[in-house]
Amino acid sequence: MNEPRSDVLVLFGATGDLAHKKIFPALYSMVRHGSLNEPVVGIAYDDWTVEKLRERAHDGIKAAVGKVDEKAFAKLAGLLHYVSGDYRDQTTFDKLKEKLAGFNHPLHYLAVPPSMFEPVVQGLEQSGGGQGARLMVEKPFGRDLQSARWLNRVLHLVFDEKAIFRIDHYLGKEAIQNLLYFRFANAFLEPIWNRNYVESVQITMAEDFGVEGRGKFYDEVGCIRDVVQNHLLNVLLLLAMEPPVSQHADDLIDEKVQVLKAVRTLTTDDVVRGQFDGYLKEPGVRPDSTVETFAAVRLFVDTWRWQDVPFFIRAGKKLPVRATEVVVQFRRPPLAVFDQFKRNQGNYVRFRISPEVAIGIGARRKVPGDAMVGEQVELTAMDDAAGDMDPYERLIGDAMNGNTQLFTRQDASEIAWRIVGPVLNAEEKPFVYKPGSWGPVEAMKEFSPPNGWIDPAR
Ligand code: BG6
Repeated sequence: MNEPRSDVLVLFGATGDLAHKKIFPALYSMVRHGSLNEPVVGIAYDDWTVEKLRERAHDGIKAAVGKVDEKAFAKLAGLLHYVSGDYRDQTTFDKLKEKLAGFNHPLHYLAVPPSMFEPVVQGLEQSGGGQGARLMVEKPFGRDLQSARWLNRVLHLVFDEKAIFRIDHYLGKEAIQNLLYFRFANAFLEPIWNRNYVESVQITMAEDFGVEGRGKFYDEVGCIRDVVQNHLLNVLLLLAMEPPVSQHADDLIDEKVQVLKAVRTLTTDDVVRGQFDGYLKEPGVRPDSTVETFAAVRLFVDTWRWQDVPFFIRAGKKLPVRATEVVVQFRRPPLAVFDQFKRNQGNYVRFRISPEVAIGIGARRKVPGDAMVGEQVELTAMDDAAGDMDPYERLIGDAMNGNTQLFTRQDASEIAWRIVGPVLNAEEKPFVYKPGSWGPVEAMKEFSPPNGWIDPAR
C-alpha cells in the first residue's frame, strides 16, 4: 500500500466530550509510541486559546491514564494548534486554510454531531481544504437508511469513498481483531463453523452503568441505534463472514457486505425492548420517553452456511456486569452415550471481548471415579488486556496511513440501517426492568437462544 501519510490532523469538535475522553488520550499514546509527529489543529466554536486547549487535553489524558508522562505530553502540546469559529461561517474555513498552508494531505476528523457534517464538508469544499485530504467521521452515521444515504451523498460531494473513514471504535478493539484472526488463522474451526454443527450464536454487551450525563443524546438514539446497528452487528459479521481471499481492506469488507446483504430485515417479533426503572428521571430524557435502554434481537443470516441458525444479540445499560461476550454454541452429540448435561453446557466457543480478552472452548470430560459421569470444563486463553492498543489510537493511525480496513464502507453503512429499520422509532412502551437485573426477565423467558441465555461473568 503506497498511500501517502496524512501530514496534519484537523480535529473538528476539539473542545467536546469525545475529544476530551478519547481522542486526546489516543493522541498522547501515539506520541508516546512514536507514531505521531504531525501537527494537530483543533477547531471548535469556543473562543479558546491554544493554552486552554492544552490544559483541557492534559485533563482528559490524566483522567484516562492516571499519571501523565509529562515529557510525552509536552511533545503533544507542541504539536497542538487551535482555530475557533462557527462551522456555518466561511471565515472559519479560511482561517483553517491559512493554518494548513504547506500541508498536502490533511486528515479532517469530524468529532461533531452528524447535523454538523454538511456545513463542515461544504466549508472545506469552498475553502479548497478538501483537496488531497481524508475525512474521518464519528458515529452515529445517520439515524436510519434515508439519513445515512443523504450523509453519504453529502460526503461524496467532496471526498472519494477511499478518502472517507467511518468510525466504529469496536472494530479497533484488540479482541475484535483477535476474533478475525482466530477464525481464519486456525483450520480446525472451519469444518464445524456452519449450520450442521452450530446450534446458535449469542452476543451480549452488558454495561453496569446508565446513560451517565448523556441523557439528551441517548434519548434521541436508544440502544438499537447506539450499539446494535453498529458495534454488535459488526461482531456478527466477523463471526458469520466467509474467509476473505486476502487481508486487503476491500477483500475483507466485501465478505462482510455479503453477510450484511444476507441478514434478514428485523420485524417487531424479533425484538424485545426494555427500559431501566429510573431512566425517565435522567437529565435530558423526555418524561414520557419510549426509548429502549435494553434490546434483545434475533437475526437470521440467509446463506448456505447459516440458514436457520439464530444469532441473538442482547445489549443494555444498568445490567449486573460490564462485559461483552460471544458464545457460539455447538449442537449436542447425536446420542447421549454417557450422561445428560444441562442445556447451556457441552461444546461452545466463547469470545470475551471486554473488559478482558479471552477465548474459551467448552468441552465435557469424565469426573474421576467408577461412574461414566462428566463435568463441564473450559480451555481458556486469557489476556488481561493491559498492554492492548486503545481502539482510537489504532483507528486514527490507520486513517492517517490511508488504511481503510477497519472502517465502514458506504454500502455497509447503509445496509446495516436496512436491517434494523422496521424496529427503530417504536412507539409502544418498552418493558421496565430493575437496574442491576438482566433486563426485562419475564419478557425474555419466551425469547432466548435454544440453549438459553448465558450471562457473562463479572
Ligand atoms: C459507544 C456508545 O459507542 O460505545 C456507548 O455510544 C457505549 O453508549 C460505548 O457505552 C461502549 O464502548 P466501550 O468501548 O466502552 O465498550
